[in-house]
Amino acid sequence: PTAQTTPDLPDVPVVDISDTGPGCTPLQQVMGLMREHGPLLVRRLHGRDVTFVADLDLVTELADETRFAKAVGPALENVREFAADGLFTAYSEEPNWARAHDILMPAFALGSMRTYHPVMLEVARRLIGSWDRAAFAGRPVNVPDDMTRMTLDTIGLAGFGYDFGSFDRDEPHPFVESMVRCLEWAMTRLARTPGSDHTAADEAFRTDAAHLAQVVDDVINARLASGESGGDDLLGLMLTATHPADGTTLDTTNIRNQVITFLIAGHETTSGAMSFAMYYLAKHPAVLQLVRREVDELWGDTADPEPTFDEVGRLTYTRQVLNEALRLWPTAAAFSRQAREDTLLGGRIPLRAGQALTVVAPMLHRQPVWGDNPELFDPSRFTPEAEAARSPHAFKPFGTGERACIGRQFALHEATMLLALLVHRYRLHDHADYRLTVKEALTLKPDGFTLTLTPRTGAD
Ligand code: HEM
Repeated sequence: PTAQTTPDLPDVPVVDISDTGPGCTPLQQVMGLMREHGPLLVRRLHGRDVTFVADLDLVTELADETRFAKAVGPALENVREFAADGLFTAYSEEPNWARAHDILMPAFALGSMRTYHPVMLEVARRLIGSWDRAAFAGRPVNVPDDMTRMTLDTIGLAGFGYDFGSFDRDEPHPFVESMVRCLEWAMTRLARTPGSDHTAADEAFRTDAAHLAQVVDDVINARLASGESGGDDLLGLMLTATHPADGTTLDTTNIRNQVITFLIAGHETTSGAMSFAMYYLAKHPAVLQLVRREVDELWGDTADPEPTFDEVGRLTYTRQVLNEALRLWPTAAAFSRQAREDTLLGGRIPLRAGQALTVVAPMLHRQPVWGDNPELFDPSRFTPEAEAARSPHAFKPFGTGERACIGRQFALHEATMLLALLVHRYRLHDHADYRLTVKEALTLKPDGFTLTLTPRTGAD
């Protein structure tokens, strides 16, 4: 589509996509529009405008918490239909945001990561057990599906002491299927043509949302029935902890919203991140070789290594691989910021108080600051020296400021350990000569990505 400009935002191209609509990959469509029209544009759909931005200088300004704050944009408004005032979708000024944030923060301190480590390892071994069987039978594994099994079981057990048992099922847990449909509903609802009838889709959504709520009740009731409402995991804090300053607790409705939020936010994006990392490893033998060297230094030819918490911290190259995968495909790809007061963005774009812009992380991650070949997968972009030399605002897979991802360390620990264990154990075979197609359901995944595996013998 060709671009015009709007009198509201004089310098900004406006691209009307009403003729085609956003299709089922709206994020990748915006990436395409940015490649054509530059890193700041207004996308118009049936008269509704969204301003998208990826320019580093502008994103740097948007990260200034004195001038801008998180906006719960239209997509998150739709997610609020099933997660309400849970941490991810709460308005910053809703008292429940700060209350829950302060109560739950200790569960994400470094010390808590140590307590999650054994659970993460236990679930990683479930995945390995399943991949061993597939390797033995010569069967391919579906990487994103199994990563989702692993991350759902991990957040269930580590956060809530609840076992989804995903590796004992042939199909994904019904929670996952309902969740994906709810996220898809939240995404496609944005693209509706005014006046058309969506009763069937909305009814199906309500059935799925009710199923999510049912799972949440099961999780909470299992804890209450155990007679131990306390504990220092997420659910224990939600049920018993009082706010450090004012002594208040979370109310029952809010706890349900938090459980649903953490079950979704705690697994869906991590699963995609590990899947993309596996994709890039399968396609980049030289990088895979460097990860092998790192894991072999730690574990040699031990058949079943017992990684310690501190060892995972030493897997620095493996973590660079993960960061580089998150650069190219940040799995929660967009987040929105709104002006606190009337202001001028970049000294030229007038914004009213409350006006929102959406940061397109995968395009921010391809700006000139990343060099002249940003599409190239190259984990050396994340050496400590390279990171120190670059603006901290050039890489935002976890959002920004006080509303940035609370689970970042959780995700990185879980993902780094699993990738390292997999590379240590298997040779990866790109048996289907996989071509990357990125599936969108608000979050991103490599669609239909399968590998076959053989056990490694020695240093090969
Ligand atoms: C917030 C990404 C893993 C829980 C966010 C945001 C992003 C993000 C971009 C900010 C959204 C915004 O500004 O609107 C990711 C990615 C992950 C990941 C890429 C994995 C690679 C996790 C995990 C958990 C989690 C493992 C929980 C265990 C949350 C929560 C928030 C959040 C609760 C809302 C925080 C608040 O607003 O106070 N995440 N996340 N995330 N994330 Fe994550």
